[in-house]
Amino acid sequence: MTTSPPTAPDPPGAFPARRMRRLRRTPAMRRLVAETRLSVDDLVAPLFVADGIAAPRPISSLPGVVQHTLDSLGDEVARLVRLGVPGVLLFGLPRPGDKDATGSAGTDPAGIVPRAVAVARQAAGDHVVVMTDCCLDEFTDHGHCGVLDATGRDVDNDATLPLYVAAARAHAAAGADVVAPSGMMDGQVAAIRAGLDEAGFASTAILAYAAKYASALYGPFRDAVDVTIAGGGDRCGYQQDPRNRREGVVEVTLDLTEGADMVMVKPALSYLDVVADVRAAVDVPLAAYHVSGEYAMVKAAAERGWLDGTAVALEHVTAIRRAGADMVITYFAAELAERLS
Ligand code: PBG
Repeated sequence: MTTSPPTAPDPPGAFPARRMRRLRRTPAMRRLVAETRLSVDDLVAPLFVADGIAAPRPISSLPGVVQHTLDSLGDEVARLVRLGVPGVLLFGLPRPGDKDATGSAGTDPAGIVPRAVAVARQAAGDHVVVMTDCCLDEFTDHGHCGVLDATGRDVDNDATLPLYVAAARAHAAAGADVVAPSGMMDGQVAAIRAGLDEAGFASTAILAYAAKYASALYGPFRDAVDVTIAGGGDRCGYQQDPRNRREGVVEVTLDLTEGADMVMVKPALSYLDVVADVRAAVDVPLAAYHVSGEYAMVKAAAERGWLDGTAVALEHVTAIRRAGADMVITYFAAELAERLS
């Protein structure tokens, strides 16, 4: 390293050693040369709505996030629209007594998710893209993402597909713009696309949870939706092994072949290599889900005063964009929208 004073010229023909200093000098210069831009347009807010509760319920492992009533959901969607957030992703919780082996409350056209879609639509018209999760784990009494096979331990992939189709149709009929199957059953995208088209919902889009890993980072989400997997089970039989990188692109390619309009990598921050791989491999819109555990870690540290939570959130979500995601589904959506405006 030379230590020549900043006024000395770069030697002729040498690498312009002080270029980086020059390009980092002022906030305006840094803005001008920034490679990655984060805008409110890139954010999607996940929202929880619970059937049969009288008031919103805080979720202790997700500070600032609640289980909404239908009324408070409408208010929150309206607030997000005012903040400029262009998308919401709805998750429904049935009344506890309505859970059963096939998750029937999740396929009911009058269930909590279709009613929540109608409320969101009422609150925001077409100013927000209403997305719905069409998985069944919130609705099954055993907590798995589909129906169980004869062993009672494994999910029956093919028997689950028609249930996802029924859920997607119910959501589409209520006015969802996008259905997002997160169950990781093989063939789910093809089944849902065909099922939507047959029922006259050709304009409902599919955001495939294409590369979804069996992650411990979903812990707070399971508190949020009151899901416990029976017998201490896990989802390793249908979600991806965190050790597998190449498989991410394989999963995405399969879902695109089946008719996905957009694809997702999940979780986001711990899987930036997968986000980058997928970005390089496909041209469709790419979402990354900054999941509950990724949010909770930042919140917990910020509560202790160990770091600046909003600054870290901004850095994390920017990093997810830098890796190649077009949109980020994040519990920080409202907080970041406020910061970005
Ligand atoms: C499945 C589903 C999960 C999440 C979204 N959809 C949990 C799981 O697969 O166990 C997790 C999202 C998060 O952690 O924020 N319905």
